[in-house]
This record gives sequence, structure tokens and C-alpha cells, in this order.
Amino acid sequence: MAESQASAADPRAAGGEESRGGNGHVSVLFVGDIVGGIGRRTLLDSLPVLRERYEPTFVIANGENVAGGLGITPKLADELIAAGVDVITLGNHTYHRREVYAYLDAQPRILRPVNFLSSQPGHGVCTVERDGVRLGVVSLSGNLYLRAGRSAFTEIESALSELRDASHIVVDMHAEATSEKVAMGWHLDGRVTAVVGTHTHVPTADARVLPGGTAYITDVGMTGPRGGVIGVKREQAIESLLTQMPVRFETSDEDPWLMAVLISCSRPLRADSIEQVLMPRPVLARGRD
Ligand SMILES: [Fe+2]
Ligand SMILES: [Fe+2]
Repeated sequence: MAESQASAADPRAAGGEESRGGNGHVSVLFVGDIVGGIGRRTLLDSLPVLRERYEPTFVIANGENVAGGLGITPKLADELIAAGVDVITLGNHTYHRREVYAYLDAQPRILRPVNFLSSQPGHGVCTVERDGVRLGVVSLSGNLYLRAGRSAFTEIESALSELRDASHIVVDMHAEATSEKVAMGWHLDGRVTAVVGTHTHVPTADARVLPGGTAYITDVGMTGPRGGVIGVKREQAIESLLTQMPVRFETSDEDPWLMAVLISCSRPLRADSIEQVLMPRPVLARGRD
């Protein structure tokens, strides 16, 4: 795991960036879409292990599927925040639970995609601070095959203008199409610390730091049951595909895994490394179900 500290001799660490803070070692654990109660329990059981192993400065988690596979409620969001999740990002399932609408306006640490319509509840940008390090987080939605009222590629500019003082910026690009996510990574390379993709629930093998210093992955994956079909009981998903008829979907609870990435940084707005964290739910905790 990562490792390098900023060197005083590193010319990239100098040059007026000190006012942003964040020149020391900073790491961000970004957790892929938490699916259902099984995903939530997997995260809660894994966090102590991950804290000991990686000592992340910040934890971000995508929570769009935490309420029974679809959406999020205030109670569940509060539980994630109490467990140490600094920022919750969302996606196309943001508004599945009506009871969360007012909470989205009131709670600064939960983000719906910034390129939704401004008339829709919630906000898409926030900053959290720890030890003088200011982490800006942006939630974005892709526009291909997903419903987002405005372009991710134009709205990201106003989002970034709100984060001029941030030591680091992590962008969750919640999108269906790999092309949109890859393009957003290149578009923001050298301008933000990381662009991480979510939504497909399947982790991709392309984690890397782009030439300009932005960590990138097309999809982090999900925190939930690998034994299903992107979270759904596999027999139900297969029946739906076989019969082409409506089928009630339930969240699988088979083979829960945590899927995340750890982004390590030693200078503002740049990453040194991005490492996938793919692990089964800790065995000792399973008796709690
Ligand atoms: Fe999702
Ligand atoms: Fe999604």
C-alpha cells in the first residue's frame, strides 16, 4: 500500500499550493455502491479492518442502493455517517425513497449528482475538513442511458469553481457507459485528485494515475453480494431475462464483498497511487445477521 510522502525537494509540491493545505500524506478510501442491508453490514464490519490497515484520512461511500437495494433513507445515511463515512454520494436511485428528500437538502455530507436539475432536492458538492486538509467531493451522473437533466461535462466546471480552496477533490462519476467515464477522467486529469466511476457494480481493472496526476478507475464495483446479479438474487434476474416478464427483485445475500479503492496523495489535487481494495466480508462478524 502506499507509501510515498511529499518531498520538500519535489518541485510539484511547491508553487503556491500551500494555501490549499494537504501537502502531507492524505489518503481517501472510496467505497463502491453499498447494496442493501448485506452491503451495509459488510461495510460496517470491514471499516475497522480497513482503518487499521490503511488509516484513511477520509472515507467516501456511494450509498444509492443501501435501502433494500434502491435509494437511501435518513436513518441509513445517519448510520453510515456515524460509522465514519465522511461523505455519501448517490446516483440514479437518489429519489427512490421520498422520506430522504428533505434530508438531502439539510445534510451537507450527502450528495446527489450535481448535474441533476437545480430544482431537484439536494446538492452535489461538499467539502469536509480534517487536520487542516479540505476534501472536496463532487457527485456527477453520466448522461448516456441515465436520467440527468444537465450535462456532466459542463456542470463539472461550476462544481469545481466552488472548490477553489480544496486540498483535494474526488469526483464520483456515476455512469453506465465506460466511454463517458473514461472521457471524464481525461477531461479532469491534472485538475482533481481522483475521478472514480460507480453504478455498474462490477469493478474494472484499469485503476491508474493518469499522466497529469489524477487517479482514475472506470468502476469501483459494489459493496454487496457477489452471489447475485449486480446485487439482485440471481434466480430472479435470470427468470426476468428468460421470461421477459415482470419479476420482483430482492437483494441477494450470497457472498458479500467490499469493493473500494484507496487513493494516496502527497501534494494538493494530485494522487500518488490508486489501489483496489476487494475483500470478502470479515468472517468473524457474520454471526450478527
Ligand atoms: Fe448502484
Ligand atoms: Fe446507479
